[in-house]
Amino acid sequence: MSDLALSDIASPDDLKVSIGNYCSGVVIVTARDPDGGLHGMTCQSFHSLSLDPPLVAYFAGRGSRSYAALRNLDRFAINVLAEDQEDLAMQFARSAGSDKWADVSWTADRFGQPHLADCIANISCSTYAEYEGGDHLIHVGRVTAITHDPRRAPLLFFRSQFTRIEREASG
Ligand SMILES: Cc1cc2nc3c(=O)[nH]c(=O)nc-3n(C[C@H](O)[C@H](O)[C@H](O)COP(=O)(O)O)c2cc1C
Repeated sequence: MSDLALSDIASPDDLKVSIGNYCSGVVIVTARDPDGGLHGMTCQSFHSLSLDPPLVAYFAGRGSRSYAALRNLDRFAINVLAEDQEDLAMQFARSAGSDKWADVSWTADRFGQPHLADCIANISCSTYAEYEGGDHLIHVGRVTAITHDPRRAPLLFFRSQFTRIEREASG
């Protein structure tokens, strides 16, 4: 048991370790710009925000080169990763100069935005707002369409590691 007072949390890295006790899913935010350029970044900071209107949000580091492109686009998609998509998560966590899209399978949604294949869910969004969030920016999207596959289980991120939901063997 570790009992940290706020004054003991000396650095952003300490805070990251403590906050990492909160388990999340993993998404890849994707978008295609008007010139056909593809953008994408792995995020764990995805949240459902509002039901009416239907809003979702993720938080992007101010230094993110991918977000520098994403924030200017009218539409984007949230791809919720399945438990076997850890490699894809790492591919889209590379910096924007590398070819994040090499060998990636995707289809365009009705608005032309990239939906990655074999995800647990793909959520089409239009850009709704951007808010300040310290060293991150909060990007809010209005949900315009959702597809999901109830047969798939999610990829999780917990204490800086990918993990999965453990299920009892059936039968
Ligand atoms: C599991 C995981 C979760 C991440 N979550 C976030 C996040 O919520 N926000 C963020 O800005 N970066 C997050 N990152 C880092 C970005 O994916 C990474 O910095 C970015 O894609 C690097 O390229 P860029 O500078 O071109 O954006 C995460 C990385 C991993 C592996």
